[in-house]
Formats: sequence, C-alpha cells, structure tokens
Amino acid sequence: MVASGDNRRALIAGNWKMNLDHLQSIALVQKLAWTLKDRNFQSDHVEVAIFPPFTDLRSVQTLIAADKLEFSLGGQDLSPHDSGAHTGDISGAFLSALACDYVLVGHSERRAHHGEDDEVCVAKVQAALRHSLTPVLCVGETAEDLETVGQSAVPVAQLGAVLREISAEADIVVAYEPVWAIGSGTPATAEQAQEVCAVLRDTIRDVHGDAQADRTRILYGGSVKSSNIAGFLRGADVDGALVGGASLDAEEFAAIAQFEKHVTID
Ligand code: PGA
Repeated sequence: MVASGDNRRALIAGNWKMNLDHLQSIALVQKLAWTLKDRNFQSDHVEVAIFPPFTDLRSVQTLIAADKLEFSLGGQDLSPHDSGAHTGDISGAFLSALACDYVLVGHSERRAHHGEDDEVCVAKVQAALRHSLTPVLCVGETAEDLETVGQSAVPVAQLGAVLREISAEADIVVAYEPVWAIGSGTPATAEQAQEVCAVLRDTIRDVHGDAQADRTRILYGGSVKSSNIAGFLRGADVDGALVGGASLDAEEFAAIAQFEKHVTID
C-alpha cells in the first residue's frame, strides 16, 4: 500500500541539523543501512534521504558509493552565489560535486536565525536548480501566525513567492513544517498536515498547472516519530516527512522509513 499519490514516490528525509561530526556520521549511516537491511526494507516506493552537516558530506558520500547504499544525500543550505568572495558560504556546485541530490532551502531555523526571507529563498532555490540539485523548500507558520492568520496563509505565501520566480518545469520538493511543531514534541495533527499540504498543492496548481502539482512531492515535518508517521502519510497530499531529532536514531529513523508497515497493520 502506498500512502502518497500514485505517481509520487514517498520521501523520508533526515535533517541532522548541527549534530554529528564526520566520524559519527559514518557510524550512523552504517547502522541505518544495517537496520534497514535487517528489517528487509524495500526502497522501491520509499526514498530515504539524509542531510548531514557540510563537513560530513564527503565521508557519507564515499560510504554510500563504496557500499552501494540506496540513500539520497543532501546539504542543509547553500549560497545563492556560485563562487567568489563569500567567506563561510557553500556553493551548490560543491554540493553537486559531492553527488548531493537535494538541498534544504528556507528551513525555519535559517529563516529565524539568519534572517532568510522569501527573496533569499528564491535566490537559493534558483542556485540549487542551476547546479542540478532538487531544492527542498521549507515553509510553515509560527504559533503567532497560527493565531493571527491561521495555518495556511504564511506557508502559501512563502511557496508562492518562490514558484513565481522559477520555471513551471523545475523539480522541487516542498516541506510543510509548522514552526511550533519543530523540535517541540507537539506535532500537527494528521488532519492539519493534510489540510495544509492540499492547499500547498493547489498553490502549485494555480501557478504552474496540473502536471506540476500532481508530480511535486510535499512533505510534512515537525516532531515526526515512528509512532505518528503512518497517520501523516495517510493524507492524500502528504508524500513523506522531513525528520529532525528522530533521524539521529537509526532504529527510530528506520522505523519511520518503514511507515508502510504501520499503515497496513493498523
Ligand atoms: P523535528 O525537526 O523532527 O526535530 O521536529 C524537524 C525539522 O526541523 O526539519
């Protein structure tokens, strides 16, 4: 049973944030690979992606290639620029050269702690696309937004701002992450997640048409665990999850990747 839309392969993405050095990253990826193998994980309709810190990427890339692991790889951020005098920034070209498939853009922690607004997110999404990376655009409302304008207004505006500046064919992933649910242990309900993801899909439909709306994967993120993943993935418009804290535990993240098991036994 596939919980997401017919044409959309589910994506379970682990955002490690600023955790684990390059040696620890190797240990976690090896443990995750063994755990999934032990549990006879089938990757044909679930893609597993990991987003380690920049300094871990080369080690993880080498391990994935050497052991032929079926994990996709992504960076947690990128510069809007391609090269030059931008001390401390990382070019999408460098991520591409390390065989990254994805890059997060506009995570709420980047928006809140680094002042990244929609304009910056547009430039970063464009930079990702220039370097053949699929941007995972994170959108979501704060607790205050929820009170003042409701749950969909802010994420819809954040997504619309980016969609209007990219081509209708550009391949992106959208992650709906209510800021109040991130790291709080209080996830959105499955119904709330489905409702907002459906509105986000309608936004894609309005700006870029049916084909793009039907093929774009929309994830839910915010306090996802193995005990609640199945509920989220039952939503017709929820195609996967962006997982923070729980992605640092191999057993827990493997159980999340196996959400289909939870869906069928419920
Ligand atoms: P969390 O983080 O799963 O720890 O809530 C999600 C995220 O920030 O992407």
